[in-house]
Amino acid sequence: MKISVMGTGYVGLVSGACLAERGHRVTCIDIRSEIVEEINAGRPPIHEIGLDSILRLAREKGTLSATTDAKTAVRDSDVTLICVGTPTVNGRMDMSQIVAAAKEIGAALADKQGHHVVAVKSTVLPGTTEGPVKEAIESLSGRKVGDGWGLCMNPEFLREGRAVEDFRVPDRIVVGATDAKTAEMFLKVYADFTCPKLLTTPRTAEMIKYVSNSLLATMISFSNEIGNMCSAVPGVDARLVWKGVHLDRRLTPVNGQTAGAAGVTEYLWHGLGFGGSCFPKDVAALRSFGRTVGEQTRILDAVLDINANQPLRMVALLEKELSLAGKHVAVLGLAFKPGTDDLRESPALPLVAELQKKGAHVIVHDPIAMPQAKKRPEFREVAFAEDWSSALRMSDACCLVTAWLEYRDISPADFVRLMTHPLVIDGRGIFEPATMAAAGVVWRGVGYTPESI
Ligand SMILES: NC(=O)c1ccc[n+]([C@@H]2O[C@H](COP(=O)([O-])OP(=O)(O)OC[C@H]3O[C@@H](n4cnc5c(N)ncnc54)[C@H](O)[C@@H]3O)[C@@H](O)[C@H]2O)c1
Repeated sequence: MKISVMGTGYVGLVSGACLAERGHRVTCIDIRSEIVEEINAGRPPIHEIGLDSILRLAREKGTLSATTDAKTAVRDSDVTLICVGTPTVNGRMDMSQIVAAAKEIGAALADKQGHHVVAVKSTVLPGTTEGPVKEAIESLSGRKVGDGWGLCMNPEFLREGRAVEDFRVPDRIVVGATDAKTAEMFLKVYADFTCPKLLTTPRTAEMIKYVSNSLLATMISFSNEIGNMCSAVPGVDARLVWKGVHLDRRLTPVNGQTAGAAGVTEYLWHGLGFGGSCFPKDVAALRSFGRTVGEQTRILDAVLDINANQPLRMVALLEKELSLAGKHVAVLGLAFKPGTDDLRESPALPLVAELQKKGAHVIVHDPIAMPQAKKRPEFREVAFAEDWSSALRMSDACCLVTAWLEYRDISPADFVRLMTHPLVIDGRGIFEPATMAAAGVVWRGVGYTPESI
C-alpha cells in the first residue's frame, strides 16, 4: 500500500520505517524541514535502537522518503496516518497540531481520485476523531466522511527505547473505525502482523490508549507511595517487598512454562516517578476529560501529585548529608528512561532546577541525551561532563537519575577512587547498599535507606 505519515517524531518515524520494512511505500511528512532532510539522508533525527539500519535500508530500496509537501504526499497515497503531537497544556489536551494536520489532509482530499483512509495514531481524547478531526477534513475537502474517504482511530502502544521492537512485534492492534469498509481497508496496513486485532468504535479506541497509560502510571505512583512508606519503617526493605509481591502467581506464573515475571512488574518498583512524553500528559488529559464528563478522578489526582514530588525526594536525602550551597553535584542520566534521548518531563528537569535553587553547581552526564539537553534552557547553567567518571571526579555528591546499563557497571571502588567524600543518592535502586557501605560509600536510596534495614 502507499502510506503517508503526518508528523515524523518518535511514533511517525518508527511507524513509517517499520511499515516500509514490511513492503509498503511510505512518505513521511513533517513541517520541520531539518527533520525531512535528515530522514532523506538516511539519518534518524531521534535515537531508537535499530531505527538507523531500517531507515538506511528503506532509503536504499526507495521505499521511504520524506517531504514537507503534505498535499502531494496525501494525494499520492491510499492511507494517511496522523502522528503529530498532542501535548497537554494547562492540564488539557492541545488539539492545535491535530486539527492543523486534519485541515491539510482535507485540502488534499478535495480533488483526490480513489478511496482514501485517514487514521489517527496520535493519542487523542474520546470524541476527537469523530469530532474536530472529521469536521476539519469534511470542511476542507467539501466531502462528508464515506464520500471517497474513511476515518479510523488506531492508537499506538510502542514504548520509547524499544519502539522498533514494539512496532515490529506489537502486543495488539486496536482499530476504531467509523464503518466496516474503512476497517477492512485499513487492516491491510497490518496484514502481515499476527497479534490480536481488536475492532472498536473510534471513541473506545481512543479510551483504550488513555486507560493503558494511566494504569501503568498508577502502578508507578502506587509503588512510590509504598516505597516512601517503607523507607520510614525501620527493618523494612522495599526492594524485598517488591520481590515478594512480584512472586505472586498472577505476576510470576508458577506453572514452569513461562520464563519469569510479567513485564508489568517493571512498573511495581519504587524510584523517581514517571516522565516522558506520554504518561504525565496522558494522565493529566484523562483527568481533565473526567471532569468534563462530570466524574471525579481521585486516583488520577493522587497519581500526578505523588509523581510531582518524587524527584524532589532526592534533594531532601542529599540535604540530610550535606549543605548544598556551593557544592558540586553530579547528575547521572537525563533521559526519562534508558534507551531514549527523550528529555520530555524527565525527573532530571525538576531535580536540576531544585539543586540549582539550593545553590549547588550541577554537572550532568547522559550516554545519549546530551545533544538534546544542550538545546534546552533548563540546562543552560549546568556543566556537561564527557563521561560519568569525569562527572564524579568533579563532584561532592552523585544523584543517579536514569538506570542506563553503563551506570549499573559503576562499582563502589569507582566512587571511592573518583570522589573525595563519596556520597551517592540512588534514584533507581540499581546499586547494592551493603557493598557500597562496605567500600566506604555513603549510599542513600529513594524509597529505601540503610537505616530501614
Ligand atoms: N512517544 C511515544 O512513546 C508515544 C507512544 C504512543 C503514542 N504516542 C502519541 O503519538 C503522538 C506523537 O508522539 P511523538 O512522541 O511521536 O511526538 P513528536 O513530538 O516526537 O513528533 C510529532 C511530529 O509532528 C510534527 N508535526 C506537527 N504538526 C505537523 C503537521 N501539521 N504536519 C506535519 N508534521 C507535523 C512535528 O514537527 C513533530 O516532528 C502523540 O499524540 C503521542 O501522545 C507517543
